[in-house]
This record gives sequence, structure tokens and C-alpha cells, in this order.
Amino acid sequence: MIRINEAKCLKCGACVKDCVVKVLTKGEDGRPRVRPEDERFCLNCQHCLAVCPVGAIECHGVGVEQTAPIGPLPPRETMLNLIRQRRSIRQFKQEELDDATLQALVESLAWTPTGCNDHKLFFAVVKSRKEMEFFRQKMVKSLQFLIKTGIMRLIYPNFWRYMDEIMGGEDVIFRNAPCMVVACTPKKAPCQEADPWIALSYFDLLAQSMGIGTCWSGFAVHAFKWIGELRHRLGMPKGYRVGAVLLFGKPAVEYHRQTAPKQFDVNIL
Ligand SMILES: Cc1cc2nc3c(=O)[nH]c(=O)nc-3n(C[C@H](O)[C@H](O)[C@H](O)COP(=O)(O)O)c2cc1C
Repeated sequence: MIRINEAKCLKCGACVKDCVVKVLTKGEDGRPRVRPEDERFCLNCQHCLAVCPVGAIECHGVGVEQTAPIGPLPPRETMLNLIRQRRSIRQFKQEELDDATLQALVESLAWTPTGCNDHKLFFAVVKSRKEMEFFRQKMVKSLQFLIKTGIMRLIYPNFWRYMDEIMGGEDVIFRNAPCMVVACTPKKAPCQEADPWIALSYFDLLAQSMGIGTCWSGFAVHAFKWIGELRHRLGMPKGYRVGAVLLFGKPAVEYHRQTAPKQFDVNIL
């Protein structure tokens, strides 16, 4: 439900103009209004709340007191350094992260955009090395089983490149990371492919800006599909599936320069 504080409203129309689903329209008195039959189309994106210059709008129980003012953004050079210096970290210190750091990372996830503002992602965060060890051990055993039974050859024909490591008990999936975040999406979400990756891309950049190493694990996304015991351990709600996996922890490797990747082909029209 959207509530307008009529005494505060300047009748500027900014909220009406910015409402993507046209739930807000200009009433006869010049103030925004919501027709009851349109209310269900509201995405709860909170644009009306954010764009109102005087904080006259409450959106689904969230008022201006619950929002932060606009803060400074990183300068372009800093942001570019973050993008260029983000590396996939595959050597981690075997230390757990402190709760405040973890909380800052986890709380930031709420701001991830989701298609149609579906906003129903579920995140499983493994923060203890003991729990991570559970995933690691089971994963190695399960992969060894899949190789021995020949199933691996069918589901992942390129597995042989990692066979020696897997059979030797090496953790090629979780890279000995002390922590991991798994983004799970409702199977019926409008943008179920994109949402989890976008969410963890944001997490990735914030983590790296805080000196925390990260590494995507596309392998783990596949492995969760095949290994029910590990999937169930995540505590996903019913009707969800694993979308993306990011490993993280304090890095045990230091890079001394940025990389110089080949530019992509780009067609500027
Ligand atoms: C979708 C995706 C899946 C990935 N899966 C894995 C993985 O399973 N294991 C791994 O070690 N790295 C994985 N990576 C990391 C890439 O190998 C890495 O981004 C690439 O080699 C470039 O290195 P950089 O990230 O340090 O720039 C993945 C990256 C992406 C974007």
C-alpha cells in the first residue's frame, strides 16, 4: 500500500512521472493517487519514496525515516580500479571473517535489482570453516563416486582435466575457501537466470573493495544440481534452485598489477 502525506506533498508530480507501472496517477487535486484496482500492480520498487523531494510517501510500510540520504559515490577512477583489480582468488587464509564484516556484506544484498522487482532471492551463507569442511568432504566424495560410476563422463565430458585432482582429494570446487554464499532463486521467478548472478556480482565487488577475496564457482552450481544432500543442507525454501555460488575469505595471494585483457568486439551504433 502507498500512503501520501497530503500535508507534506508539493504536488510536483515526480512520483507519478517515475512510476514504471503507472500505479501512481495525478489526482484531481494534483496529488498522486492510487486507484484501488491498480494497487496489485505495484512492484514495491520504492521509486516514489526515493524520488519524493520532501519524503511525503510511505511505500508498503516503509517511510522516509527508514531510508538513508543520498551519499557520495566512488570517483570513476576508484570504481575502475575496483573493476580492473578484482581477481578470482583461489588461495585463501584459513581464517573466518568477523561478524561485522559478514553482516555488512549480507545486508548489502537487499539492494540487488531483480527482474520485475521479484525480490524473492534466498541466500545461504556458510561462514564457519567447520561447515565449509562438511561441504568440501561431501563434494569430494560425491565427485569421486560420480567418476567411479561413469556418471561424470555423461554429465560433464570435460571432467578428465580435473580427474587427478579430484581423485587425489583436492577441492577443485570450493578452492579451500573459508566461506561461501549461495544465491538461490524461485524456479518461477521472472528473471531466474539473471537475478542470482547479479546479486553475487554486487557482493563480489563490495567484498573486494573491503580486501576480501572472492571466486565464482560455476562448478559448484552444477554440482549442487547433482548432489541432493549438499543442496538440502543449504536450507532453501521449497520451489527454489541454486542459481550462483561465490566463494570468499581473506586472500593469501597478492597481485602487483592489473591485468590487460583483450578488449571485446563492440559495435557502437
Ligand atoms: C560464471 C563464472 C563461473 C566461474 N566458475 C569458476 C569455477 O568453477 N572455478 C574457478 O576457479 N573459477 C571460476 N570462475 C572464474 C574465472 O575462471 C575467472 O573469472 C577468469 O579466469 C578470469 O580471472 P579473473 O576473475 O581473476 O579476472 C568463474 C567465473 C565466472 C564468471
